Amino acid sequence: MFDLTGKAAIVTGAGSGIGAAIAQRFKAAGALVLGADIADVGALVESWGCQFRQTDVSIPEEMAALCQAAVDRFGKLDILVNNAGVASAAPLADADPARSERFWRVHTLGVQSGIKEAGARMKPGSAIVNISSITAVRGFVTWGEYAATKAGIISLTQTAAVEYGPAGIRVNCVAPGIIETPMAMAEAPDMVARNAAVFTQLGRIGRPEELAAAVHFMASDDASYITGQTLLVDGGWSTGPSIKGIELALSTSG
Ligand SMILES: NC(=O)c1ccc[n+]([C@@H]2O[C@H](COP(=O)([O-])OP(=O)(O)OC[C@H]3O[C@@H](n4cnc5c(N)ncnc54)[C@H](O)[C@@H]3O)[C@@H](O)[C@H]2O)c1
Repeated sequence: MFDLTGKAAIVTGAGSGIGAAIAQRFKAAGALVLGADIADVGALVESWGCQFRQTDVSIPEEMAALCQAAVDRFGKLDILVNNAGVASAAPLADADPARSERFWRVHTLGVQSGIKEAGARMKPGSAIVNISSITAVRGFVTWGEYAATKAGIISLTQTAAVEYGPAGIRVNCVAPGIIETPMAMAEAPDMVARNAAVFTQLGRIGRPEELAAAVHFMASDDASYITGQTLLVDGGWSTGPSIKGIELALSTSG
C-alpha cells in the first residue's frame, strides 16, 4: 500500500519541517527522491539517501531546471510536491507590497511554475501535490498577505486538475493547520502550542510526519481517482470552534 517503488519524485523545501518529512517518507516508500531547497542543505538531504539540487522556486527558470534535472538523473518524473514556503505575519493595515510580492513569488508563482514544468515532462499516472494552508480557507488575524497566496494554490490545483486530467496527471492539494516545524515555532512557540491545544478538535499541534502521511497518500497510486481536491490536515480546526475553545471564551466573557 502507498508503494512508491521506482517512482521519481521532487520535493521542494526539502531541507526543513514538512518537506524534510515528505522526502524521508518517500525515500522509505521506495521512491527516487530529488530534494530541492533555496538553502544549501545538500549534505542533510543526501544523508537520507535522497539527491539534492539547490533551487529557488520563485524563479521560473530554476523550476524548469529542477524538473529537467529529475528527468536527467532518474529518466522520468512521476511526482512533484510543491511544498517550499515562507511565512511572516502582519495585519492588513500594515501590509507591505514587497512582502506580499515575495509570498506571491514563492507560493503562487512557484507552484504555477512547478505545475507547468513538471506537467510538460510527466507521463499518465503521475501526480502533483501542492501545499496550501488552513489560512486559505478561514480568516486568521495577521495572516492576510500569506493566506491570499495560499488560497491561490487551491485555485491553481483546481485549474491544473482540469487542464492535466486528460493527460492522466492528477493534481491535489494538502492544507496544513498548525504543524510543529521551524516555520511555525519561529516566534512565540508557547503561544503556537497553546493555540493548537485550544482551537483544534484533537487538542494538540500536528507533527510533520502526519502531514507527510497525507501527501504520501495523495501522491501514490492508491489515490488514483482523486484529483483537484484539497485535504485539510489540521486536527479538525477548520470544522468550527472546539469545546475547549468555547469553554475558554465563556469563562473569560464575564
Ligand atoms: N508549519 C505550519 O504550521 C504550516 C501551516 C500551514 C502551511 N504550511 C506550509 O507548509 C510548507 C512547509 O512549511 P514548514 O512549516 O515545513 O516550513 P519550514 O520553514 O520548516 O520549511 C520551509 C522550507 O522551504 C524552503 N524555502 C523557502 N523559500 C524557498 C524558495 N524560494 N525556494 C526553495 N525553497 C524555499 C526553506 O529554506 C525551508 O527549508 C510551506 O509551504 C508552508 O507555508 C506550514
